[in-house]
Amino acid sequence: MTPFETVELTVYPYECDAFGHLNQAALLTLLEHARWDALARFRVPRSPAGGGHEPIRVPVGDVELAVEMRGEGVPVLFVHGFPFDRTMWRHQLATLSRVRRIAPDLRGVGGSGTPPTADGYSLARYADDLVAVLDALGVRQAVLCGLSMGGYVIFELLRRHPGRVKAMILADTKPQADSAEAKRGREELTQVAQREGQDAVIERLLPRLLAPVTQATQPEVAGQVREMARRWSVPGLVGALRTLRDRPDSTETLRGVRVPTLVLVGSDDEIAPPDTARAMAQLIPDAQCHVVPAAGHIAPLEQPLATSRLLADFLRALPPS
Ligand code: MLT
Repeated sequence: MTPFETVELTVYPYECDAFGHLNQAALLTLLEHARWDALARFRVPRSPAGGGHEPIRVPVGDVELAVEMRGEGVPVLFVHGFPFDRTMWRHQLATLSRVRRIAPDLRGVGGSGTPPTADGYSLARYADDLVAVLDALGVRQAVLCGLSMGGYVIFELLRRHPGRVKAMILADTKPQADSAEAKRGREELTQVAQREGQDAVIERLLPRLLAPVTQATQPEVAGQVREMARRWSVPGLVGALRTLRDRPDSTETLRGVRVPTLVLVGSDDEIAPPDTARAMAQLIPDAQCHVVPAAGHIAPLEQPLATSRLLADFLRALPPS
């Protein structure tokens, strides 16, 4: 049996009665925190791809995608950002045990096939790939959970296949298209990718991806981000950068959403900051919005415990199908 690490919990004065004893509700909450903390730290054996489970291969037209699947229950499709892969959800895949977790690598990434030229990549192709995965698994409707570029892909899926979305979790993402300056940045980064490869791309991006506290106290997270970027092919990077540059504004798409939606954002996210996330949540009727403290642009990896709790609470409250 593997012993769990020690879990430290803080008890606040307002959780205690006049004699300093914990009240019953606070005790239950603390035990729940301890359970999540222990699960979040539990390390599953690593596969060569960096995740804990071998993916299956799902044909989606011109390529096959690597798709990791775990558990039973409401299907939740996890869509990674740029330049990450499905393992950015490693903690949520390990701990959200009451739902059916489905996590593909997008085309050009990780274990998935790589179209050789940039025209093999577009928001429409990424979105249709996800629907092909759902079809292959016999899933009619899923909760879609996307981070950043994963969110942009979900916006496109909403436009093309609205009936497939049961609910949405939008993490560290935004509806706006790229500004002229951002488009120039994409073009420069495309040249870096073509000339110098994956390592050079991630070194340019890293300083803006993680919260200062993550960089100072969790160096392993920067290592995980580097590993994910190395699993992108160069055509995949170039195709994604063009897709990001050319994506449309999704404000009107979000105004039309009529499914339960959770928006979450790292307190120190520089790329899709908390104010942007709050404004995005206001576009969507009844959307919840939560800020994850001490996280940057990759809250699920930087603060897995807090992020997984938000997801679990949201998923638990969904109406039955
Ligand atoms: C991502 O995490 O997917 C990227 O930061 C998206 C972007 O650069 O717009």
